[in-house]
Amino acid sequence: MCGIMAYVGEQDALPVVLDGLRRLEYRGYDSSGIAVILNGRGSGDGAAGADGSVDRQPARPIVRRAPGKLDRLVAALAAEAGGEQGGAAGPAPGPLRGHIAIGHTRWATHGAPTERNAHPHTDCAGQTVVAHNGIVENYEALRAELQGEGHAFASETDSEVIAHLIERYIGGGADLIAATRRTLKELRGANAVAVLHARWPSLLLAGRTGHAGGLAIGQGEGEMFVASDLPALLGRTRSVAYLESGDLAVVVPQGARISTLDGNLVDRPFRDVPDDPLAAAKGGYRHFMLKEIHEQPRALLDTLQGRLLARAPWARLEGLRLTATEARDLAKVVLVACGTAWHAALVGKFLLEELAGIPVEVDYASEFRYRRPLLDRRTLVVPISQSGETADTLVSMEAARQAGARVLGVVNVVGSQAARLALESAGVVYTRAGPEIGVASTKAFTAQLAALALLALALAGARGALPQADGEALVRGLEVLPDQVASVLGHTSPGAPGDAAALGPEGPGPAAVASRYEALASRHYRARDALYIGRGIQYPIALEGALKLKEISYVHAEGYPAGEMKHGPIALIDQDVPVVAIAPRDRVYEKMLSNIQEARARGGQVIAVGTEGDAGLAAKVEDVLSVPPSDPRLAPVLTTIPLQLLAYYVAVRRGCDVDQPRNLAKSVTVE
Ligand code: AGP
Repeated sequence: MCGIMAYVGEQDALPVVLDGLRRLEYRGYDSSGIAVILNGRGSGDGAAGADGSVDRQPARPIVRRAPGKLDRLVAALAAEAGGEQGGAAGPAPGPLRGHIAIGHTRWATHGAPTERNAHPHTDCAGQTVVAHNGIVENYEALRAELQGEGHAFASETDSEVIAHLIERYIGGGADLIAATRRTLKELRGANAVAVLHARWPSLLLAGRTGHAGGLAIGQGEGEMFVASDLPALLGRTRSVAYLESGDLAVVVPQGARISTLDGNLVDRPFRDVPDDPLAAAKGGYRHFMLKEIHEQPRALLDTLQGRLLARAPWARLEGLRLTATEARDLAKVVLVACGTAWHAALVGKFLLEELAGIPVEVDYASEFRYRRPLLDRRTLVVPISQSGETADTLVSMEAARQAGARVLGVVNVVGSQAARLALESAGVVYTRAGPEIGVASTKAFTAQLAALALLALALAGARGALPQADGEALVRGLEVLPDQVASVLGHTSPGAPGDAAALGPEGPGPAAVASRYEALASRHYRARDALYIGRGIQYPIALEGALKLKEISYVHAEGYPAGEMKHGPIALIDQDVPVVAIAPRDRVYEKMLSNIQEARARGGQVIAVGTEGDAGLAAKVEDVLSVPPSDPRLAPVLTTIPLQLLAYYVAVRRGCDVDQPRNLAKSVTVE
């Protein structure tokens, strides 16, 4: 996801900002940029002080941006500086010397990863400069309004509206602080911004709305920093405060004044943070996998944001290149993927068939490529891939296109091979889970489930296949999903503790959840075999839970359709084989209870995943891991979470290398 880094103080701002962006690269991005207010221009006599007084010689901030990796931006700056060498972050900025600057690494959501879509963005006059993280959900209406007032837009992004809104309010007589406050109040969705302006050259503004990525304020000696995440501040300061949703910070070298958007001062305490880069990248969590498990509320929020509609066509997928007519004309969908993504595909089959009324086939990508699949223009092949680099999936995409099918990718990494291939066909639906570092896929998986639900809604809407009431219920179900996942994880809001802004008082992930699963893991970590059972849409979750356990704890685990127990697997069960039964209140609940009884009758120790408040289930099993009641078609997003945590804590208890399990790679780029 996007990264923001900003500086104001006595040092040369540009190397500090570039170094911060370098430390945010792990967040994933596809373009970058900086803006700096040059020394001697807009500063000195009459320079704006902390009270926002205006400088009389406004000079436009200098903006430099580049698509691709940060090295391209640094190389462009070096060329401009005549190749002058600089510090670790790259060449000294040469002519671009200033004491205040902002920088940005962009993870594209609206608009291709090009130079003109890269941040920072400016207003018409080039005086307001904005770096943005998040999604302005109402950007289309704001953009139309501003264009109607004569504002000229240079990019395809949602972010650019922020610069023009600030320009509009300054033009109406507001100062930078008031104009930015008013702008942030107008933005819908989760947003984090850093703002500079030529007429207030000593002011750095930073603000948040919704539960977007955090913004941390770092305090130095006569200098201040603003960053999306801790790693950017390492080595600069250990004194850090976090902005909350609805905060606006006015930052000058001497410090920061933080207030609400209504102008009421608030206290955001500065705390000491770890100075270990890896620890900081893990947001204080012991492993990336645990951080990513706890980031799922926000990954879901980001994946769903701006894509749900209150009525048909129910979902708006900016990357889908399929007309309503083509959607209505579809004869079948083929979902192809590997590993965890294949489990998402199995859930997707239920959603697409039930909601859109389209026949769906699901295939391992490693098998699909050796079949002679019956495909044509009326077939939509949907490869699902977190990395977008999985060799088997890529080969399957090529095979599908050669067979005449249209290909729509569900991909997490922008600009990956799978994304680029799909963009040449029916487009890409990006999961906006952010970079997933742990080999075991967690937040990408639940984001894939959300993306497949959005796709099923969009196709159902185009085909008129969903009654109004059902569509509304599903949209409502998806809207509350991030909060529900947050509650399963013990959070108080979707801004997951993995989010820098939430690394304050409650620390990473509530302790209660950790101790609950540590206790459960200590009872079962010696098991040599485990059985995961589920029915219907929960059967893929049984498979996923088993894969999580085996790939990070090396315990043999099998996922099985519960109805198949009596056809063989029940022979495996005795007191040494834990049985994980996924039994939320749904149409096969009673059948699951019978399967649980069968397992108990043979000495099996049953751990159930059930619906909160289900005392009947709790009385029948050793342990019950509860999730909130939800639409059964969306329940897999919730029932997955306890299985991720169970696998994680068993692996930790067994002393396994959770983030880099033996023999495994994060992306299987070989066949
Ligand atoms: C899941 O935990 C594994 N890391 C693995 O099965 C993974 O899902 C599979 O290799 C597919 O990767 P992709 O989503 O990047 O294509």
